Amino acid sequence: MTNINEIAKQMVADGKGILAADESSGTIKKRFDGINVDSSEENRMNYRRILLESKEAMENYISGVILFDETIRQSNSAGEKLVDIIKKSGTLPGIKVDMGAKSLAKMQDETVTEGLDGLRERLQEYSELGAKFAKWRAVISISEKNPSHLCIDANAHALARYAALCQESEIVPIVEPEVLMDGSHSIQKCYDVTKKTLLKVFDNLLLHNVDLKGICLKPNMIIGGSENSQRSTSKEIAQMTVDCFKECVPEEVPGIVFLSGGQSEIEATENLNEINKIENTPWKLSFSYGRALQSSALKAWQGKLENEDLCSKAFTHRAKMNSLASEGSWSNQQEG
Ligand code: 13P
Repeated sequence: MTNINEIAKQMVADGKGILAADESSGTIKKRFDGINVDSSEENRMNYRRILLESKEAMENYISGVILFDETIRQSNSAGEKLVDIIKKSGTLPGIKVDMGAKSLAKMQDETVTEGLDGLRERLQEYSELGAKFAKWRAVISISEKNPSHLCIDANAHALARYAALCQESEIVPIVEPEVLMDGSHSIQKCYDVTKKTLLKVFDNLLLHNVDLKGICLKPNMIIGGSENSQRSTSKEIAQMTVDCFKECVPEEVPGIVFLSGGQSEIEATENLNEINKIENTPWKLSFSYGRALQSSALKAWQGKLENEDLCSKAFTHRAKMNSLASEGSWSNQQEG
């Protein structure tokens, strides 16, 4: 087995999932604005350090952490590199390598993710800085006339070129085609668009000689639009999610780690739990949550030194609940 196959398996080790702490400068500012905290470099380091120093969570429930470029180079006030704090807990450091979703020329309200130019050299540097895996997020939005074939095609092509470059550097690519929840579309529409997107993504991965045993897929769950008043039960969401992936995701893929995409913390946990109650799925099914692991922690912190413990406890609790959900053994009573 090559190194990338082993790393991919570690990323979806039993009862573990990924912490997405790779918010770009703009996104973390938005999150900090929500708690009235200035998005200074020191505050960003401090907040992320609290999460990474949460020993119980990191050692037991988290397999890897996705970092932003700034964070992979940062040290805490004692001079310890944040990457070394991650490694000390037995967790894998990862890095976001895309340069963001940019407006797709001649198309309305659609984007293509950029960042391929110079990526080979950047991956080499990130590997030297300790990254074992990477992330690239493609964004597909649903509206009356979108997504277009072009949008799905362009994004699938970029994801495949990124994934091949990662594997060349012995870095496991997280392949993230996110079909957004924004809009009033039905759950069936989400199913159809996700299916079309995933089929195109796997076509391209194979065309670009990507070893499917050495990737992790990071998709959305199959869920109705956030402005659709008809809410599905978590059982329906789970069944449609598994059905959709069985149609599109080859069995060699070791793991599927979901994004939370705007679901509340409890929804994201409950849906993952229901997904894992379904039997006979060929892949590990876990989490790679940003907001659904951090919302309570961020609120508890408020940018204050005296709240660090509360922040760490809130993060540890969510990590533990999602760990249980990744094995289908969570229940609402365990929320306490
Ligand atoms: P959310 O779980 O907040 O959607 O973030 C995950 C992520 O990494 C999006 O790219």
